[in-house]
Amino acid sequence: MKLVACVCGLALVACALALENGLMRTPPMGWLAWERFRCNIDCKTDPQNCISERLFMDMADRLADDGWKELGYVYVNIDDCWMAKQRDASGQLVPDPERFPRGIKALADYVHSRGLKMGIYGDLGTYTCGGYPGTTLDRIEQDALTFAHWGVDMLKLDGCYSSEDEQAQGYPRMTKALNMTGRPIAYSCSWPAYRGGLPPKVNYTLLTNICNLWRNYGDIQDSWDSVLAILDWYSENQDVLQAVAGPGHWNDPDMLIIGNFGLSFEQSRSQMALWTVLAAPLLMSNDLRTLSQSAKEILQNQLMIKINQDPLGIQGRRILKEKSYIEVFLRPLSHSASALVFFSRRTDMPYRYTTSLARLNFTENAVYEAQDVYSGNIISGLAPEHNFTVIVNPSGVVMWYLYPTMYLEQPLNFVRQQSPMKGFHPLVL
Ligand code: GLA
Repeated sequence: MKLVACVCGLALVACALALENGLMRTPPMGWLAWERFRCNIDCKTDPQNCISERLFMDMADRLADDGWKELGYVYVNIDDCWMAKQRDASGQLVPDPERFPRGIKALADYVHSRGLKMGIYGDLGTYTCGGYPGTTLDRIEQDALTFAHWGVDMLKLDGCYSSEDEQAQGYPRMTKALNMTGRPIAYSCSWPAYRGGLPPKVNYTLLTNICNLWRNYGDIQDSWDSVLAILDWYSENQDVLQAVAGPGHWNDPDMLIIGNFGLSFEQSRSQMALWTVLAAPLLMSNDLRTLSQSAKEILQNQLMIKINQDPLGIQGRRILKEKSYIEVFLRPLSHSASALVFFSRRTDMPYRYTTSLARLNFTENAVYEAQDVYSGNIISGLAPEHNFTVIVNPSGVVMWYLYPTMYLEQPLNFVRQQSPMKGFHPLVL
């Protein structure tokens, strides 16, 4: 998101539309209810898992107590089905009184007391996708004020039950309304997902000015097929999508489903690596109370998170699609480093993939070192023309954090014949 100074004259139009919250310089991290807990409102038979203050307090406790918060997972985000079926007498949105007896402000206070941030869900339209009260155009300012008053830190504004024209008016208008509250509230817009996700129907220049993140594609489900469908769509349209992501404004390929039922161990590692290379938000939708140790290790991998949160904020791309069903993804990082993901779409057995950095477009006359993000192994002395082999499991990844250790003034073969100090100089990172 760009900060646009509000002066006057010709700049006024841009001014009025810019989101001025300075938030999300790196992709947001946290937890979001929808994929795992959906619209389960049956607190009588399922009190632990229904959409209620208890669920969000439980998740806040887990984020605060189980090492998540320190790694950056700070958002506790409510999704659909939190509201009462009607607004109150003054037209204000209210939470379901039985499931949120103390109200959203008290819940946000609790979340803040645990050192976390609170996110909420609304829908630009007559109803939310789940049939709860929507934010029609005439309610935008009122709802923004309500959320600010409750101490909300992030708003996901969905787009069910609204027309193309209402969305074109409503999404920018909510930007203004959030600015007017004076509270920094991160703004997630589902607008592009309702318009096919691509230009000319979607104006990404506008979106980067008015939203901190946006969904562009369909909902993730608890399955590998769903992860692949999202990945395919992102890869096929990467020329458009890669360019529009950056600090303050991110593409959102939807939640991490690691720790649920649909993904194998390898597939879980793959979702984490691929979402990281895509500079995607790391919003988990899982049950943090019962998460397996292996899912936790994947989600809490520190080098992975460092890569996801790289300050340059450049989204990665698929750079190769081999006939062998190996695909290679690359994300440029700060300090001349890169993240490389070797991804197997094979369904037979671990595949020995041989390539070289030169084949992956590393043309600098340098020697590189790689750290395997999952095993921690270090691979040193990689010159661009040297072949190397990675063994990639079916539907799995090998992920490298790659960085130059020295730049050569002469080709490596030549340097080897010289006194080392003349031929190379170490790079200070
Ligand atoms: C839409 C959104 C989902 C979720 C549901 C809630 O489908 O894309 O992420 O918010 O609505 O009903």
